[in-house]
Amino acid sequence: MKYAACFLVTTALFVCLLPLGATTQQQSPFQYQIEKTLIAKRGAVVSAHPLASQAGLSILQKGGNAIDAAIATQLALAVVYPNAGNIGGGGFMVAQLKNGKQLALDYREKAPAKAHRDMYIEADGTANTDKSQQGHLSSGVPGTVAGLFAAHQYGKLPFKLLIAPAIALAEKGFVITAAEARGLNNLKSDLKKYNTQTPAFIKDGEWKAGDTLVQTDLANTLKRIRDNGQAGFYAGPTADLIVAEMQRGGGLISKEDLLAYTAQYREPHRFQYKEYSVVGMPMPSSGGVLLHQMLKMIEDRSIASMGFHSPDAVQLMTEVMRRAYADRAAYMGDADFYKVPVKQITDDSYLTQRMKSFVAGKPTPSNELQPGAVAGYESEETTHLSVIDKNGNAVAVTTTLNNSYGSRTVVGGAGFLLNDEMDDFSIKPGVPNMFGAVGGEANAIQPGKRMLSSMAPTLVLKKGKPYLIVGTPGGTTIPTQIFQTLVNILEFGMSAQDAVYKPKFHHQWLPDELVLEKGFPDNTKTALQKMGYKFGKERGGIGRTELILVRPDGRFEAIADKRGDDSAAGY
Ligand code: GLY
Repeated sequence: MKYAACFLVTTALFVCLLPLGATTQQQSPFQYQIEKTLIAKRGAVVSAHPLASQAGLSILQKGGNAIDAAIATQLALAVVYPNAGNIGGGGFMVAQLKNGKQLALDYREKAPAKAHRDMYIEADGTANTDKSQQGHLSSGVPGTVAGLFAAHQYGKLPFKLLIAPAIALAEKGFVITAAEARGLNNLKSDLKKYNTQTPAFIKDGEWKAGDTLVQTDLANTLKRIRDNGQAGFYAGPTADLIVAEMQRGGGLISKEDLLAYTAQYREPHRFQYKEYSVVGMPMPSSGGVLLHQMLKMIEDRSIASMGFHSPDAVQLMTEVMRRAYADRAAYMGDADFYKVPVKQITDDSYLTQRMKSFVAGKPTPSNELQPGAVAGYESEETTHLSVIDKNGNAVAVTTTLNNSYGSRTVVGGAGFLLNDEMDDFSIKPGVPNMFGAVGGEANAIQPGKRMLSSMAPTLVLKKGKPYLIVGTPGGTTIPTQIFQTLVNILEFGMSAQDAVYKPKFHHQWLPDELVLEKGFPDNTKTALQKMGYKFGKERGGIGRTELILVRPDGRFEAIADKRGDDSAAGY
């Protein structure tokens, strides 16, 4: 088919803009295109990598539904996007099926049984974040494979078909982009430091765009999953390889931990914003609750009339972010282990009370922003994908290894990276994690507990039907980015593409600084400075939002973030 415009990026990689209503061309792993935006009639997938989006699209075209396509896309991401796509990490899926049933699937990693509260505290009382952020001890028990099988009960096609594209990509290889080559080259010294066997990611000399990455060990692991289902990962040879890797490197994950892991369906976190119903992820994600708090704190404040990126609008949004994140630090954690006061902190009167101290044009001092009273950076390598099919099944999945390339530890002989998700626990009260977030009792380490997450796969419904399917990586910036994307569309009336592409900002209470993305207007920054806001280091890019918007005529507008190799596919 003909593209409206294509730009040659490397010998093998083009960036293309599809004409309206076009079908994505079949992609070859050895020459493929990035498609940033498209409008499709029958189905759309948007993810961090063109070959992963293509894998999902091929499943839709074979008669699979959006759940099938989301599974195939995730498995392909585990091969072509090792920074965050994974089988050694975890994630969340939020979906609405064509019959209206809503799902929130939790396959977040868990602390191993031998984990304990002070496992990262040294003899002198200091918290050792090196150990929580890299290497064998930083890994939680992976949840992704259990999640994929739990999701599959709502799919239509056999799992064997869904995993086939990932196996082919791992076995035959694919050419890497410039960003991937950079990532792998930057990773080399860590890979050497934290691996007990040389992984496929290490090459003699430097990686460059257009090189082929073949992952034979990973292909064999994926085949064991294809042939034995969940047990192909949590038992048998793969489990043996994980446990052997843990023993070589001083990690804690045991055979019993792997066998005991289960993914969990939970009640989605739902709320109403004006005429829209928002369906988000509940605990152990802070995402749904933070989004609820932030949107409700602006709902009656006529933000649309203030104008996009005006000092007034940005200040209001910053102040609601600060209040919500103070609550995150105090109250949020795995609700299976800690009584999280969700009802109280999302109650309208509580949120009105929280905004009593808000003064337009002036930052509320941080010490006055303590969590409300209740009775009773990008190393942000998470990744998001959004899918919709012709029947209106809508799926939002965010999945992660935590840091870019997780713990930097590849399971010897099994070919996949393990997560460093243990750092998402509060390893010591007041000690910030890699995203600068602090926490306490609610998010302290306990065996079998899930660490608090910011991942926020989100659906916005209009009259009960999918309108927006959205999510992003970005650690603690995830909920504030989704907040902005939604406000951009629902309040500022922005196009889907502008809502994703325009510069973002972020505040999380502590550290007490406003972070701006490159391109944020200087005059607004100056106005905020005059109000008394302090600024963190400017960020080159905040997150990578993948959005599908359902147009009034029923067609799907898919937007892949411009901030990476993200790509849309549709037909
Ligand atoms: N590891 C990032 C998150 O779950 O929030």
